[in-house]
Amino acid sequence: MTQDELKQTVAREAIRYVVDDAWIGVGSGTTAHFFIDELARIKHRIRGAVSSSVKSSERLKSHGIDVEELNNVDDLPVYIDGADEVTQWGAMIKGGGGALTREKIVAAVGRRFVCIADASKLVPVLGAFPLPVEVIPMARSYVAREMVRLGGQPVWRMGFTTDNGNVILDVAGLAIEEPVAMETKINQIAGVVTVGLFAHRGADVILIGTDRGVKTLTPPG
Ligand code: 5RP
Repeated sequence: MTQDELKQTVAREAIRYVVDDAWIGVGSGTTAHFFIDELARIKHRIRGAVSSSVKSSERLKSHGIDVEELNNVDDLPVYIDGADEVTQWGAMIKGGGGALTREKIVAAVGRRFVCIADASKLVPVLGAFPLPVEVIPMARSYVAREMVRLGGQPVWRMGFTTDNGNVILDVAGLAIEEPVAMETKINQIAGVVTVGLFAHRGADVILIGTDRGVKTLTPPG
């Protein structure tokens, strides 16, 4: 199967986790887009969606799915999103598409995080994929120097502005053995809006698309 077919397979499987008559949290990226297309088939069963990016909102609306502001939603039973890397323990690198801040906010509200990914995303240790860090523009050089102090090689994602008007540093060369501690450390750097490490609030369920079907992992809470 191609990578896109694997993404489509997990997107389809994720529909099983959608709660009827409730809001659903929807992530960003190509796997999330496949999920949105599947969600369209059962849109009559949900109240609507809370989205983590402008692009996902547009795709949801194009299918006639109501998109509600997070501030107006007090209960979000499930959040479904892709990842750039995920461990069997549920820690993830996210933000390849640049939507990490809104993803982290919607994921924080979601009671259950279902990560959907093709098999190439499942890794023993995070960090081969450069870690995205959303930064206030005036802090870009300072944060880059701090990332070098942590052992990384930051690269400014040129020509890219996040939905929140900020810039992204993609930090290569970090072998992230302790994702929770690393997330805390990077969060404390002045000027960092969000680090694309999702470890404090990791995935509760991981659906991995493989050539032999969908593998379901449930990291211990
Ligand atoms: C966007 C993300 C995506 O979930 C991540 O980049 C995976 O993308 P894709 O499903 O296209 O492989 O975090 O900010």
